[in-house]
Amino acid sequence: MAWILPLLLGYLLGSVPFGLLLTRATGAGDLRSIGSGNIGATNVLRTGRKGLAAATLLLDLLKGLAAVLIAAHFWPEWAPVAALGAFLGHCFPVWLKFKGGKGVATTAGVAFGLAWPVGLAYAVTWLGLLATVRISSVAGMAAAVVAPLAAFVLGYPQAGLVLTVIALLVLYLHRENIGRLRTGTEPRVGGGKNK
Ligand code: G3P
Repeated sequence: MAWILPLLLGYLLGSVPFGLLLTRATGAGDLRSIGSGNIGATNVLRTGRKGLAAATLLLDLLKGLAAVLIAAHFWPEWAPVAALGAFLGHCFPVWLKFKGGKGVATTAGVAFGLAWPVGLAYAVTWLGLLATVRISSVAGMAAAVVAPLAAFVLGYPQAGLVLTVIALLVLYLHRENIGRLRTGTEPRVGGGKNK
């Protein structure tokens, strides 16, 4: 039962919906009725507030990182469980009837917390594809798939296991984006569709 506290800590930190809170607090509207309806930074960007989107990205990342680092301090062997908790908290927050985000920024944070070289592989894939392909969902899904592979190759099997579960959930949570990608209607960051 030693895993319960790290799981709970991760979940509670992860469940803070920064995108929703920031847009609401600054009068930018309810994110859930804007664009994709997602509570992440990409959708905050669709409100036209770049600074707010950057803040959402950073805070969603930092809560994942904080969950892992705090857990690693108190229960070193259970840090991967806190990582999973943070991801689950972000994607299925009890405060929003379990309808949260897609976990891309929070996964970046937990990847850096679990093993910085894995976080680096995640960030390079994510930002590299964002800059070139300019489709947020493609960049996020690719980074989520690269992370567990990088973890296993670089010698972090525990992180690899947790990141495998996370990658499968990230793909599942992007099922509507995958549908839009197939029909060529997924928006690019900065305008335009994916066809
Ligand atoms: O991080 C979420 C991103 O991958 C997709 O966001 O709003 O385009 O569904 P969105």
